[in-house]
Amino acid sequence: MDTPPCAELHLHVEGTLEPEMVLALGERIGIPLPYADAEDLRARLAFTDLQSFLDLYYANTAVLRTAQDFAELMAAYLRRAAVAHVRHAEVMFDPQAHLARGIPIEEVVEGLAAGMALGAELGVSSLLVAAFLRDRPAGEAMEVLEALLRAGAPIAGVGLDSAEVGHPAAPFADVFLRARAEGLRLTAHAGEEGPASNVTEVLDVLGVERVDHGIRAADDPDLVARLREEQVPLTVCPLSNVRLRAVGSIAAHPLPQLLAADVLVTVNSDDPAYFGGYVDDNYAALRAETALGRDDLARLATNSFTGSWLPAARAAELAAEVEAWRLAV
Ligand code: ADE
Ligand code: ZN
Repeated sequence: MDTPPCAELHLHVEGTLEPEMVLALGERIGIPLPYADAEDLRARLAFTDLQSFLDLYYANTAVLRTAQDFAELMAAYLRRAAVAHVRHAEVMFDPQAHLARGIPIEEVVEGLAAGMALGAELGVSSLLVAAFLRDRPAGEAMEVLEALLRAGAPIAGVGLDSAEVGHPAAPFADVFLRARAEGLRLTAHAGEEGPASNVTEVLDVLGVERVDHGIRAADDPDLVARLREEQVPLTVCPLSNVRLRAVGSIAAHPLPQLLAADVLVTVNSDDPAYFGGYVDDNYAALRAETALGRDDLARLATNSFTGSWLPAARAAELAAEVEAWRLAV
């Protein structure tokens, strides 16, 4: 299906590890994996909730060790993103998932940056976002932030991800304050499995500029009004939400309702290797299974540039490409 040029604002690079790459990297470094083949791994991508996914997602990071591994992962994602008409990607990675396995932070960021340079040659610009794990202590996140700063890691911002329920964002306030003082941009997952109040928490306590997922905001009319007034971008991931059973189906997804309420909703893929589709597949699913039409997809894509951390002039240039797409039938 024809999908618009867009920015991808919610993408975990570790979530682009396709089963074939897990097997190939595992073989290259000679570690035993509990999968007979790629199809066997693919058959296990049936999740009951966020945690059941995270268990597999973290386990598979065992195949990422060298800068070359990280470079290949990033480059493969950006190649696929170019096919999906992604013109700009703001890519999260989980430093703690790699530090915990003894991989030096320099190895991770050097590799990711090399992959990003290859993506730029394909016409996909990208920024890197270090995401802290909310189910690990905030003190550890602060240490990781300091290590990233010491290493001169080329990060544009920080985020907060992993298990939401039972893991409040408030303890991370100082980490986000420190990141902001360093000129870093701020985002956080909230309202994916947790309630609308978690969205309010990351806005008020962490001071984030945008919210990853945020779909449960739809349960609270006052919060929806606030998101509209403040034009807070929500980086929504429809296929992810269905696969992790945060919503029952694409047809029942709150995205159209939030868009109709003039919230700055965007469409993204989250962990495309695990959830059955890249960002173009997410746009196509919305077009096929909701009442959203071509103009609505164009609006969502324009929102993705507005909600990006690109300079306003560049975001406007890319938004003009969306308008050209809208008019080309
Ligand atoms: N890490 C990777 N994908 C995630 C998601 N959908 N929610 C929280 N943490 C994540
Ligand atoms: Zn996510």
